[in-house]
Amino acid sequence: MAVLLDGKALAADIRAEIRLQVQSDIARFGTTPHLVVILIGDDPASQSYVRGKENACLKAGIRSTVLRESQTISEEALLQIIDRLNADPGVHGILLQLPIPRNLNADRIISRIDVRKDVDGFTPENVAALAGGKPGMVPCTPLGVMRLLEKYSIGIQGKHCVVVGRSPIVGKPMAWLFLKDNGTVTICHSKTTDLPSITRQADILVVAVGQPGMITEEHVKNGAVVIDVGISKINDEIRGDVDFDAVFPLASHITPVPGGVGPMTIACLLENTLKCYRRLMESGR
Ligand SMILES: NC(=O)c1ccc[n+]([C@@H]2O[C@H](COP(=O)([O-])OP(=O)(O)OC[C@H]3O[C@@H](n4cnc5c(N)ncnc54)[C@H](OP(=O)(O)O)[C@@H]3O)[C@@H](O)[C@H]2O)c1
Repeated sequence: MAVLLDGKALAADIRAEIRLQVQSDIARFGTTPHLVVILIGDDPASQSYVRGKENACLKAGIRSTVLRESQTISEEALLQIIDRLNADPGVHGILLQLPIPRNLNADRIISRIDVRKDVDGFTPENVAALAGGKPGMVPCTPLGVMRLLEKYSIGIQGKHCVVVGRSPIVGKPMAWLFLKDNGTVTICHSKTTDLPSITRQADILVVAVGQPGMITEEHVKNGAVVIDVGISKINDEIRGDVDFDAVFPLASHITPVPGGVGPMTIACLLENTLKCYRRLMESGR
């Protein structure tokens, strides 16, 4: 029987702590941290994520602005918005809600965000820092996973960490974080052959694919720590990538969906926003 990794409870603690820090920072610097989210189009999932981020900022005392742009916005217009936000001393964090329409070059747009305001850690400078094991802004979801493991005293060193999924926002940064903490890392993806034979070797298994219930008892060894990043909505129900009921009896620790990694992502976004704000304030911006 597994221990539940309660991301909801830990995220609530982190958010309460951030709220206190924001209050004292506002008194110290005389200005309120401000996150700007750029939301393009009307994808319901993105709208719901952005509402969650807005709400969390509000409760933490962080100002948030959502720029809702049309699906047909041009790349040039978007780059101009980013230039304006980069230059605005009243803006401390910029987040481009992904995915964006296919006709826009996400890499080019993200590259334009001032690295000092890159709360998501997606700019090339921050990606290079993480891949190189150097300090920088760490993407919120893998950072949230690390916080959760730390909270439950689950060490990384010497463990075989298997990450299923190699996206630039979850899988790859997750693998780099494990490597930095001396884990032995394997990354799996859609072209991996015989996935269960690899995932069954994992001491720590992180799944970030987006296929509900794909990880079953055949993929997990006894005593493994299982982290489910997946979020899929099926008939108004949120489902993870792990078949929870099948894996629960085998795992030593497991995240629920919802209530595991999702809330940690939001808490870490607030943490990153506060970090960007402090650096800007301390550097006199
Ligand atoms: N909890 C949170 O806060 C949070 C945050 C972000 C994302 N998510 C969720 O996490 C999931 C993944 O998100 P993402 O943005 O990383 O997705 P993504 O960009 O679509 O990447 C999915 C990855 O899964 C791999 N994959 C697909 N089918 C596979 C299979 N049968 N076996 C092994 N690997 C397979 C893909 O391999 P290829 O590279 O070969 O295509 C790809 O690397 C989604 O459900 C998303 O909603 C949750």
